[in-house]
Amino acid sequence: MSKELIRLKNVTQKFDGETVLDNVNIYFNDSEFLTLLGPSGCGKTTMLRIIGGFQTPTSGDVCFDGVRINDLPPYKRKINTVFQKYALFPHLNVYDNVAFGLRIPKEAEDGTKTKLPKDEIDRRVREMLDVVSLKGFEHRSIASLSGGQQQRVAIARALVNRPRVLLLDEPLGALDMRLRKDMQQELKRIQQRLGITFINVTHDQEEALAMSDTVVVINEGVIQQIGTPEDIYNEPKNAFVADFIGESNIVDGIMREDRVVEIFNRRFACLDGGFEKDEPVDVVIRPEDVDIVSEAEGQLRGVVTSVTFKGVHYDTIVDFYGFKWLIQTTDYCPVDSHIGIRIDPDGFHVMKKSKYSGMFGDYSSYSEEYDEINDPSRSAAEEAEGAEDEE
Ligand SMILES: Nc1ncnc2c1ncn2[C@@H]1O[C@H](COP(=O)(O)OP(=O)(O)OP(=O)(O)O)[C@@H](O)[C@H]1O
Ligand SMILES: [Mg+2]
Repeated sequence: MSKELIRLKNVTQKFDGETVLDNVNIYFNDSEFLTLLGPSGCGKTTMLRIIGGFQTPTSGDVCFDGVRINDLPPYKRKINTVFQKYALFPHLNVYDNVAFGLRIPKEAEDGTKTKLPKDEIDRRVREMLDVVSLKGFEHRSIASLSGGQQQRVAIARALVNRPRVLLLDEPLGALDMRLRKDMQQELKRIQQRLGITFINVTHDQEEALAMSDTVVVINEGVIQQIGTPEDIYNEPKNAFVADFIGESNIVDGIMREDRVVEIFNRRFACLDGGFEKDEPVDVVIRPEDVDIVSEAEGQLRGVVTSVTFKGVHYDTIVDFYGFKWLIQTTDYCPVDSHIGIRIDPDGFHVMKKSKYSGMFGDYSSYSEEYDEINDPSRSAAEEAEGAEDEE
């Protein structure tokens, strides 16, 4: 079915001694919509630049169709890029922006230059404007287009010379939310119609889940997980992924045996297995998988500390024995109410301990105490006091 097109083998990128990509191994299939997802500075753009040929990795190989292409310049790769600042030519109309690349004579290995015939250029430009739904916009000036329309011109321009792969670096970053959602569908539609590989970069997890066949979660230059959107959401590999993809309560647990997990000294039925007996684990419970019931019926009991109306549901923060969880529920439970909760076996997701254990998944930042601790005027005053003591 899907065939491997690009592979990064042991790719490491260092800048001034800092490791930005750390021994990355990954392949990209033909006709796949893949998204690189991770926080700012994790190395997403760097990885894209290495694939595009704008950056030579410190070590490791880039292969295209099984051939090592480390030394192939960008313009000789069958790969085009749409950058976040898509830099259209403001003095050219839509048609001429898209036609621009096709009008440049192509140089063959022996140095001879050939020009595409005018009617061939015209056919291709019109075909591409049709693909991005901009038929009839040929003579419009760039300045007269909306942000979404400009974005589509940039995509048409990158696709018109028929690359095998399109690299998109936060292509929707500049658009407002409604337009972003429309363009997500649009990009997906274009990718399916042309059947080429799209490698998209974003730090927006919703966008990654909505558009992609495959999501690659990256942190600190290391690939954390590769999978379908469903895999990544339902079966996060570690606390970083669980926290980065949607909201998660993450608590310490112990796997007592297959399908029995213990949290807060209580045992719960779950669906996970394959751990050592009594192995310490991280347990993810998604806010939408917790049912609020009466105190008497609850598997755990807690006190509501904050409620925020979110439209479809309430973000309800509940204190269980000093640990605060986020619960998303359509039931309104006022602050200070004592509630019980129930979690079905499929509401638990058990993960191996990792370097990210204990770093994420705690919602105590919603509480007032936290605000107090973080009061800058208070810490400044304390610092001043400390300084006086030292003198
Ligand atoms: N040419 C360069 N020289 C030095 N450092 C660089 C260079 N390019 C990138 N970096 C550093 O590498 C790290 C990763 O940068 P990169 O642009 O790949 O991140 P990113 O994941 O795309 O982030 P963002 O979401 O903010 O765009 C950053 O710390 C950045 O400062
Ligand atoms: Mg970037």
